[in-house]
Amino acid sequence: MSETRTMDPLRCFLFVPADSERKLAKAEGLDADALILDLEDSVNQENLPKARVMARDYLAQSRDRTRKQQLWVRINPLDTDFSLPDLAAVMPGRPDGIILPKTYSAAEAIKLDHMLSALETREGVALGQTKILVVATETARSLFTLDSFVGASPRIYGMTWGAEDLAAALGAFTNRKADGAYEDVYMLARTLCLAACKAGAMEPVDSVYPNFRDLDGLFAEALQGRKTGFTGKVAIHPDQVAVINKAFAPTADEITFAKRVIAAFDAVGGSGTVGLDGKMIDMPHLKQARIVLAMAERADA
Ligand code: COA
Ligand code: MG
Repeated sequence: MSETRTMDPLRCFLFVPADSERKLAKAEGLDADALILDLEDSVNQENLPKARVMARDYLAQSRDRTRKQQLWVRINPLDTDFSLPDLAAVMPGRPDGIILPKTYSAAEAIKLDHMLSALETREGVALGQTKILVVATETARSLFTLDSFVGASPRIYGMTWGAEDLAAALGAFTNRKADGAYEDVYMLARTLCLAACKAGAMEPVDSVYPNFRDLDGLFAEALQGRKTGFTGKVAIHPDQVAVINKAFAPTADEITFAKRVIAAFDAVGGSGTVGLDGKMIDMPHLKQARIVLAMAERADA
């Protein structure tokens, strides 16, 4: 199993309730790498038929996909009667990917993979083109099965985790400590999600920061996430997008250091290890330096 990661991960996924004309209109001009047209928790059940049509129309309007912003759709969980109609409605619009919530194990991702193959064939879309992002920690059982996602389907772009639905699943009254930090259970879920992603060459995408007026708190959490290994984060409000993009762009110091690492290797030509500032530098540092420069290039673009 390969543990290498993509050089060009999506930094910010913005949730947009698919039944909101205003929010869909606003989202188009935003600098999020991906929009998530939501058919699940942000949409009332009575509005769902209308939201499906709105999501499909929105996708159809930007079918050429030359735009920078990818378009993803969050469907309802596979163990509800809503998920199949959700998929059937939006697949003609050729979404870049599907967000799969409230999973128990990789069995559902594999089932979704098969459904997507059928629908791609119906729509004349290249087989395997539609990616999957799993919301991997929203059920109690999922904490014991995250390993099952490793190698489960080549469609899986990555996994994100959820603290709100997990709290509901565990019967918890809160997921935060008095100082605002997550309770240990949720940090465990986050860490397991990160490790499973790295084990399977999937992108770990950090969860939402619900307090959308607190942009300093968001920046601190996003930066901590990037330094821990996450490659992107989910947003729920337009104001969060620029903050997340900034947190996931390397700093000037990191870029300078990455260039020095690459220069040091170039200077010794072919050696697997060099000394820099009195410290040993080897292959993991070179790989990391290349990732930093690729991220910087993307942030500039
Ligand atoms: N996407 C696109 N536009 C959004 C948006 C979003 N997620 N959230 C807010 N906006 C728009 C508003 O419509 C408003 O634009 P307008 O002035 O043209 O109407 C503008 O941004 C400012 O919004 P604001 O007044 O600050 O927030 P709000 O009170 O309207 O909305 C939320 C707050 C939380 C309800 C809203 O941000 C939202 O719906 N977020 C997504 C929730 C979601 O999808 N949850 C599921 C995943 S956890
Ligand atoms: Mg939810």
